[in-house]
Amino acid sequence: MQYRKFGKSDFKVSTLGFGCMRLPLQSTGGEPDMTKIDETQAISMIRHAIDGGVNYVDTAYPYHGGQSEVLVGKALKDGYREKVKLTTKMPIWLIKSIEDCDKYLDEQLHRLQVDSIDYYLLHAMNKERWNTVTQLGILKFLDKAVMEGKIKHVGFSFHEEIDFFKEMLDAYDWALCQVQFNYMEDRRWEEEIKYAASKDIAVVVMEPLLGGKLAANQPDEIKAEFSKTNTNRTPAEWALRWVLNHPEVTLLLSGMSDMEQVEENLQSMDRATVNNLSIEELKTIDKVRDIYEAKTKVKCTGCNYCVPCPKNVPIPNIFGLYNESNIYNVGEQSKAFYKRVMKAEKGVLSCIECGICETKCPQKLPIIQHLKEAHEHLTT
Ligand SMILES: NC(=O)c1ccc[n+]([C@@H]2O[C@H](COP(=O)([O-])OP(=O)(O)OC[C@H]3O[C@@H](n4cnc5c(N)ncnc54)[C@H](OP(=O)(O)O)[C@@H]3O)[C@@H](O)[C@H]2O)c1
Repeated sequence: MQYRKFGKSDFKVSTLGFGCMRLPLQSTGGEPDMTKIDETQAISMIRHAIDGGVNYVDTAYPYHGGQSEVLVGKALKDGYREKVKLTTKMPIWLIKSIEDCDKYLDEQLHRLQVDSIDYYLLHAMNKERWNTVTQLGILKFLDKAVMEGKIKHVGFSFHEEIDFFKEMLDAYDWALCQVQFNYMEDRRWEEEIKYAASKDIAVVVMEPLLGGKLAANQPDEIKAEFSKTNTNRTPAEWALRWVLNHPEVTLLLSGMSDMEQVEENLQSMDRATVNNLSIEELKTIDKVRDIYEAKTKVKCTGCNYCVPCPKNVPIPNIFGLYNESNIYNVGEQSKAFYKRVMKAEKGVLSCIECGICETKCPQKLPIIQHLKEAHEHLTT
């Protein structure tokens, strides 16, 4: 296992962290139930990873319907708690008053069966949630929780609104930031994480395999591109190595869902040092990215300028599903997600073709037409 210095602290963290959002589930025969973790397997996977050198475990209040924190608490019994730094996150969207902060933190400590959490993150931050943080004085609450020893350090996780990221970084003395970073992500993130590293804020990467999409169902052209290199690496190894190639990255979290993946990632991360990829290998990744991008149906950048739609059509989300379905060969998964969108908000069927979205789109996309195509694709 490789280790890197964790931000401002002297702690040397394993470059592979265990993400506990995609733990193995009990097979119940019907639709998978996310709240029913296969406890025996999940505990052995987490402990096997720790025995293999992993010393960072990440969970959050909502994962597996609340059961991830409970499972992690059990996995870290028998001396494993002392071997890792434990991270969980404040469900900021549930916080309506400062009393709620105490309530959720105490519940999380109880679920995890620990006295203290090493890294406590504001979960999935954006501008709107940051307003809640400032209005309710949540940073003061976090300082108090550090003084009381309930948490040791504070950080935040972040997905969207890249333009707001630097402001977040500058707003507090964060120990870490957690960001989505993989070779298909917006290239501007490379600059953003450099800025975080320049401030000695640890950069913890989530979704390094884009939730598994960069590891499975690869189109033949991509398989051919990788096989030209004669390296025998799996697509997962290529993607994980690319993330850790960056000196600004402190560690990556992998949401491993079976023991084989734990084994493979433990082994491949052993070789993933800073600058582990040659110039030629980086060019291979560039070509792979180009192949994926050429499959994009709608050139939507997800800027969200088109929403809110007067009829609440979640336009960027629908285009995201449509594109993912084509790019990553995950049609069935995208259709299942769209079914849920339809159930909640009627999807494209609510569109009255008012065209307000098209006047706001910086790419000047024919949104109404694309929505019809997406609906057709995702429902047949
Ligand atoms: N703070 C936040 O808002 C937030 C958001 C997202 C994630 N996270 C954290 O970040 C962690 C990592 O994100 P992620 O789970 O999306 O990570 P990821 O590594 O992008 O995706 C995990 C999936 O990749 C596949 N995989 C992993 N290793 C593999 C291998 N060696 N070979 C083939 N497939 C492999 C598995 O998919 P299959 O099961 O399909 O095989 C696994 O479920 C999460 O677990 C969570 O702890 C945080």
